[in-house]
Amino acid sequence: MKILRAVEPMREAVRMWRRQGKTVGFVPTMGALHEGHLSLIHRARVENDRVVVSVFVNPTQFGPGEDLTRYPRPFRRDAALCRRAGVEALFAPRSFYPLDYQTWVTVETLSQPLCGRFRPGHFRGVATVVLKLFNVVQPDRAYFGQKDYQQWRVIERLVRDLDVPVTVVGCPTVRDKAGLALSSRNAYLSAEERTAAPLLARSLRDAGQVLKSGQGVAAARRAARAVLGRIGNARVQYLDVVDPFTLADPRPDGPWLVAAAVYVGRTRLIDNRWVKP
Ligand code: PAJ
Repeated sequence: MKILRAVEPMREAVRMWRRQGKTVGFVPTMGALHEGHLSLIHRARVENDRVVVSVFVNPTQFGPGEDLTRYPRPFRRDAALCRRAGVEALFAPRSFYPLDYQTWVTVETLSQPLCGRFRPGHFRGVATVVLKLFNVVQPDRAYFGQKDYQQWRVIERLVRDLDVPVTVVGCPTVRDKAGLALSSRNAYLSAEERTAAPLLARSLRDAGQVLKSGQGVAAARRAARAVLGRIGNARVQYLDVVDPFTLADPRPDGPWLVAAAVYVGRTRLIDNRWVKP
């Protein structure tokens, strides 16, 4: 596996594969890899001749006061996991934004609701870095987790609107045995918080059952909040029921996406659940 620390060598590796007629799958990450990331890598491995993973903690998607500086960076371990998973190239640029950087990509409407309400500029940072990464790696397919549901939809739209020649593949959320969605940020949880955190997934499941039974959005939100109330030191940032395609108000007869962001202590966790009528 090659580790590439700058744009030009990364481009050169892909150019060589392309000349050989190989297809390229790409998994962008911020590192601190876990089984969720590995599921995307395995899928890319199956569907492409060559797999590129990027590890870059993208400063432009963090707001002031967010966890940019303390975000975990176990690079040697990440590289070992990628090598073991059969990745051909690990792109980990030392710097990716020149000092006078000034170009931004905004996916307007889809970036507004859910996390967008509380993390202004977040999806602008995500869309911008992902387009930059696509321009360097020029993959045939790129893999995103549905755990970050809104991010997946934003990238899908970016690719469609700007005619980016990449197929975006959304992959199911990987959970632990208790149902907690795997996340690099779970490492911040104390033992006690870790025990209570699966109630987030549980709350979304209960809300889904209420929606399926036809009792409506308000009742579903009440059901979810009742479960979240059982997490000791939790603060709900949002708990919304939206249309899974537009992320706007859902149709009364569904389908629905139940999505939430909850602070458990100081750690912000997100999760979502697609509910069919
Ligand atoms: P990161 O949080 O490292 O996630 C990288 C990819 O792994 C994303 O597509 C995310 O949705 C996926 N992922 C994370 N946890 C998952 C889980 N439990 N199951 C399935 N997939 C999971 O998302 C980012 O990085 C960044 O915003 C990035 C796209 C790299 C741009 O900086």
